[in-house]
Amino acid sequence: MNRMSADLITQDELIEELNGLMAEELEASLRYFALSIMVVQPTEAFSELLREVVGETMEHAGWVAKEIRELGGEPKINVKLSSTAVPMTTEEAVAEILIVETAALECYKDLLGRCSHFDESSGVKRFLAKQVEEEEHHVSEFRDLCHGLGIDPDA
Ligand SMILES: [Fe+2]
Repeated sequence: MNRMSADLITQDELIEELNGLMAEELEASLRYFALSIMVVQPTEAFSELLREVVGETMEHAGWVAKEIRELGGEPKINVKLSSTAVPMTTEEAVAEILIVETAALECYKDLLGRCSHFDESSGVKRFLAKQVEEEEHHVSEFRDLCHGLGIDPDA
C-alpha cells in the first residue's frame, strides 16, 4: 500500500493502531469492572447498563483482534491498569465512563479518517465505520443515563 500523505496510514501503522485500540477496549472493560465494585449503592439502571457494556467492550476487543489478523498482523495484548477500589457514587462513575466512551468514539473516528484512501469496500473501513456506530450508541446510552440521574453530561 502506498503512503499518500502524512495523515494517511500504511498497513503496518494501521495494525499498530488497531493493537492500541484493542488494548484500550480491554482497559475500558477492566476499568468498568473496577467501577462496578467501587460504586456504593448503585442504581439498578446503572448496574444493568454497566454489566452490558463490560461484555460489549470485551467483545469489541475481540472484533479488533480479528481485524488485525485479517490484515495479516498479530494481535498483541499490552494492557496497563491498576486501580484502588475507592468508594464512589453512581454519578461519579457514569461521568468517568462517559469520558472513556467519548475517547473511544474519537479514536475510531480518527482512525477511520486516516483510512480515507482505502477502497470503500475495504473490510477494515467497514469495520471502523461500524465501531463508530457502536461507540456512538454507548455514548448516547450513558448520556441518557446522566439525564436520568439529573447530571448534565456536558458540564
Ligand atoms: Fe464503548
